[in-house]
Amino acid sequence: MSSPARSSSFRFSCLWVLPFLASTVSSSIDTFVFGGCSTLKYSPGSPYQEVLNSLLTSLVNSAEFSTYSNFTAPGPGSGFGSGSSPQNSPLYGLFQCRGDLNVDDCSRCVNQAVSRLGTLCVGSCGGLLQLDGCLVKYDNATFLGVQDKTVVLKKCAPISGYQFNSDEAAKRDSVLGYVETSDGTYKPYRTGWSGGARAVAQCVQDLSSGECQDCLTEAIGQLKSNCGGARWGDMFLGKCYVRYFEGGIRSHAGDGPSSDDNVEKTLAILIGLIAAVALIMVFLSFLGKSYERSKGGGK
Ligand SMILES: *[C@@H]1O[C@H](CO)[C@@H](O)[C@H](O)[C@H]1NC(C)=O
Ligand SMILES: *[C@@H]1O[C@H](CO)[C@@H](O)[C@H](O)[C@H]1NC(C)=O
Repeated sequence: MSSPARSSSFRFSCLWVLPFLASTVSSSIDTFVFGGCSTLKYSPGSPYQEVLNSLLTSLVNSAEFSTYSNFTAPGPGSGFGSGSSPQNSPLYGLFQCRGDLNVDDCSRCVNQAVSRLGTLCVGSCGGLLQLDGCLVKYDNATFLGVQDKTVVLKKCAPISGYQFNSDEAAKRDSVLGYVETSDGTYKPYRTGWSGGARAVAQCVQDLSSGECQDCLTEAIGQLKSNCGGARWGDMFLGKCYVRYFEGGIRSHAGDGPSSDDNVEKTLAILIGLIAAVALIMVFLSFLGKSYERSKGGGK
């Protein structure tokens, strides 16, 4: 097992820019967890956009019947006139709803995710959005059926104010152990509880049974080593996640953000302020210049 970094982290493959951070308080199916867009862009109005739009429509339509689906759309440019440059890499897309959702809720979640991706990832070749109830991802780089155990998001309850006692630690280990145990059948969604402790695990179903098991084992190991005595923890890897919470307390249930969150939020606010001040200064200097120019012109 690789040695995990200590801080809360976001990592994508080199294609992905820093994703948007969640700061939601209430937990519902469409609560934002994380998202990101590829830095590669397609040109607006290009065949790429058409293919992407039809791919996303297929995802939304398919979510009315199932809780997981994948699509591969033939590459833009293929089948079109001979003049177009060979831009034939197919587009891939999938959605994965949490295993306890019914088809109606899944469909609603995928709809939400696709429409939010439309504004989050304008012009990006690839996009990814994880809501509480579903994951939607598309890209023209292959990812379907590919194992991915990269840590994408980890969050732990702040451990400064509260530490597990040994009884609670035992409950956590037992509930995580239960979720990790395979009975040989393919279970992409798993849940377990022990007293007030609860764990939820989900694989993206393009993984085989063995790959899913492998991914969850890694996620649970990472969760245990990163979130030691914390009352809740989230570990999202590329193709699976594990979430753990104790005593009805959960990362998104208004227990207050972790200290990492606060740092991130403060940073975001600061960056926003600096950007706003810079914009105002540019605007003022522009006003000043055009005022001077009109004064000069009036002479
Ligand atoms: C994805 O599409 C973009 C824009 O058309 C292109 O530049 C890039 O090479 C494609 N990526 C792959 C893996 O084919
Ligand atoms: C993609 O979906 C098809 C059915 O539409 C299925 O047969 C195939 O196994 C899926 N591939 C992956 C990688 O999940």
